[in-house]
Amino acid sequence: MKKILALVLLLATVSALKTFAIKILHGPYLQNVYQTEATFVWISDKPSVGWVEMAPNDGTNFYSYDRPKYFDTQIGVKRTDSIHVVRITGLKPGVTYRYRVFSQEVVKHDHAYVQYGKVASTNVYRERPLTFKTLEETKSDISFVVVNDVHARKDVITPLMKYADYENRDLIFFNGDMVSIVNRGEDFFTGFMDECISLFAKNKSPYYVRGNHETRGEFATHFQDYFNPRQPHLYFTMHLGPVYFINLDTGEDKPDNDIEYAGITDYDQYRTEQAEWLKTVKEDPLFKAAKFRIVIAHMPTTISKNEWHGPVDCLNKFTPILNDMDIDLMICGHVHRDLYYEPNEVVKYPVLVNSNMGSVEVNTHGDSFEAVIRHLNGKVFSKREFRVK
Ligand SMILES: [Fe+2]
Repeated sequence: MKKILALVLLLATVSALKTFAIKILHGPYLQNVYQTEATFVWISDKPSVGWVEMAPNDGTNFYSYDRPKYFDTQIGVKRTDSIHVVRITGLKPGVTYRYRVFSQEVVKHDHAYVQYGKVASTNVYRERPLTFKTLEETKSDISFVVVNDVHARKDVITPLMKYADYENRDLIFFNGDMVSIVNRGEDFFTGFMDECISLFAKNKSPYYVRGNHETRGEFATHFQDYFNPRQPHLYFTMHLGPVYFINLDTGEDKPDNDIEYAGITDYDQYRTEQAEWLKTVKEDPLFKAAKFRIVIAHMPTTISKNEWHGPVDCLNKFTPILNDMDIDLMICGHVHRDLYYEPNEVVKYPVLVNSNMGSVEVNTHGDSFEAVIRHLNGKVFSKREFRVK
């Protein structure tokens, strides 16, 4: 009888400990690391407040000082949530920083009373602290890789990234359709992000250009909670070394009133607003000064017979503006085929389309750059050279 009682007590204790424990389920991972800012995202298993501690990578023990804390806040209040986002600005370009993230459970919030529970954090004691490097302000040549159309085939991430030599690339872009539908936040992680986090995303930010499949599903409006969070738009520009990047969000491929969207989309208007934003990019001094101007967009703005509505709307709204921007290359996905279009009278810039079975690697060399499509088996499918105009 005593043994049974002891067993019941043990089970109750284990159950109570489980109740109070909090875990980080996914992440942390980096987003929008630029010259002077970085954003950190992670998911806990319980509603909690979150914060990041950061230290320079100066050889001191992480525990040498009380490191500054950056909280996940909204309008001045620490957010209680299971997804945490901290955007830190005012960083120095080209500097390596160390960091760890924390989540403290909020057990109860009743009027002005808040009861906090246990804390979960990334480890800086037994493991090395996580690190990341802000982008350099000046760099003579750069190298980057673009992957797209993974469609939640998480097993292709590791071979794709390894063959693409991800560790030696300055930048890694996701060019859309990394999942096929978003019904819940977990879909991002089971589909591809858990693989990316274990490979590189803790230390190197993936830059996410949305595809048309990320626009689908009941959770699609939450996309920006996870990717490009705290940024004004999902379309954005950035620069590194000789390259200025214009990252477009091309939206859905069928008409907004198509039966597949059940009346829930409004991408024609979204693309119209984006075209107005695109006109302003020409005024950016960094755009004017750039040696190379590269567009990354999921759906290609090319002309072919019987083209679907979305790419045609992109062609009509974006291409006249891009034609006047001296674009060196547009990199796309979406059609699951490797294609290349020379500039023509309608689209006055080259368009390179990567299939769903490879990556695009770009390396700049002084006044030229090469774009290589490499397939999942590691073999080079195509290699093209582009020279400064
Ligand atoms: Fe697509």
